[in-house]
Amino acid sequence: MFIKDLAQFKNEEVILKGWIYNFRSSGKIMFLQLRDGTGFCQCILDEKALRQAQGESKAEELWIQAQKITLETSIELKGIVSEHPKQPGVFELQIKDFKIYQIPNEEYPISKKEHGPEFLLDNHHLWLRSRSQWAIQKIRDTLIRGCYEWMQKNNFVKFDSPILTPSACEGTTTLFSVEYFDMGKAYLSQSGQLYLEAAIGSLGRVFDFGPVFRAEKSKTRRHLTEFWMMDAEAAFVEHEENLKIQEELISFMVQKVLAENQEELKILERDIKPLENVLPPFYRITHSDAVKKLRELGSDIGEMDDLGADDETTLTKLYDKPIFVEKYPALVKAFYMKRDPLNPKFCLNADLLAPEGYGEIIGGSQREEDYDELVKRIKEHNLPMESFGWYLDLRKFGSVPHSGFGFGLERIVAWVCGLQHVRETIPFPRMINRLTP
Ligand code: 4AD
Ligand code: MG
Repeated sequence: MFIKDLAQFKNEEVILKGWIYNFRSSGKIMFLQLRDGTGFCQCILDEKALRQAQGESKAEELWIQAQKITLETSIELKGIVSEHPKQPGVFELQIKDFKIYQIPNEEYPISKKEHGPEFLLDNHHLWLRSRSQWAIQKIRDTLIRGCYEWMQKNNFVKFDSPILTPSACEGTTTLFSVEYFDMGKAYLSQSGQLYLEAAIGSLGRVFDFGPVFRAEKSKTRRHLTEFWMMDAEAAFVEHEENLKIQEELISFMVQKVLAENQEELKILERDIKPLENVLPPFYRITHSDAVKKLRELGSDIGEMDDLGADDETTLTKLYDKPIFVEKYPALVKAFYMKRDPLNPKFCLNADLLAPEGYGEIIGGSQREEDYDELVKRIKEHNLPMESFGWYLDLRKFGSVPHSGFGFGLERIVAWVCGLQHVRETIPFPRMINRLTP
């Protein structure tokens, strides 16, 4: 029996199991706030009702025990489900009996007073029990399920790319390395993309979804060193269609949260208007036009520069839904991106920026499918040719135009939940200065 199902058991006797996350007493009545993973519910322990249900002596014994309850006491409660007299649709439990699993010996370190972010990060193993963390993890779960659902409906096959890899996918400056027996160094994957490009030759459309690693030296509200990425890759899909796939996927995921997580969004005090707006088509602007706009607004960004975090924030505040910035200068982007045939200094790529100042949530592009061009790019980027033998093979045997993209789950969760920092979106955040708990 779970709290979320209480409405179906009005006036019936049920058993709930969970933790006391708050309580207060008023004479001979105790109000216990119970949390069971599926929701929150007020449980009422009335000494008089207890006596009626249990008889004098058992009731007295239980009442004495109940006075010992502290925050995070784990407990089983038996009682009758009743509807809140003033809030229809809200259900409570009128307790008839209970069994305590454990009463904490120490005071629970997280109290109702304000705690600093470092304290909460040090105590993340307990902070996870807070209402806001509960709501965030539920929304994260919906976004993951929404992603799988959309991908499956649209013929993408889940494909697991490796985590230990011999070379870089996204530039060599953020690689984590480990000693790999007598074979030298292995690197933790930054993105499964290159392996997905191999998979399209077999499955046509594929995606992976797993942890990736970047030795990010910067401390920003958008960067983790371990985060979850969904990479997608599709054969015969070119730049335009690549963007369509992304806007449909993201819209579907966000609309699913609106359909399933109203309670959670309310706990987070998220304004849902901007989320209701997340429907295709998204806005599009070329990198060149974005630079013009930013310079008008006072940015000192150069024509061939990548967009900085501040530029992204400025830009996204101008729009009321996600926006694709497409065709970046090739020099600031990865080696595998196909050049724009109309202007080869630029790529057939796009970053998807989330509105309300959130910035990049997806990076994607059409890929270079020509063998000779790709060899040129690998050289230009000073990448070790021998590591890319297998990747070049894909351009030898039935090469086709193809495109793909990758999203950072934590960036999407932060945006959808309206959070300041990605560290709140992952259960155990890993950052340049944090490896525990
Ligand atoms: O833009 P990125 O680097 O693109 C790739 O890795 C491509 N290989 C993906 C592909 O085409 N299959 O990373 C993709 C996304 C970013 O848009 C961002 O949302 C997220 O991953 N991301 C990070 N999230 C948290 N912390 C970090 N350090 C991140 N770096 C990238
Ligand atoms: Mg990127």
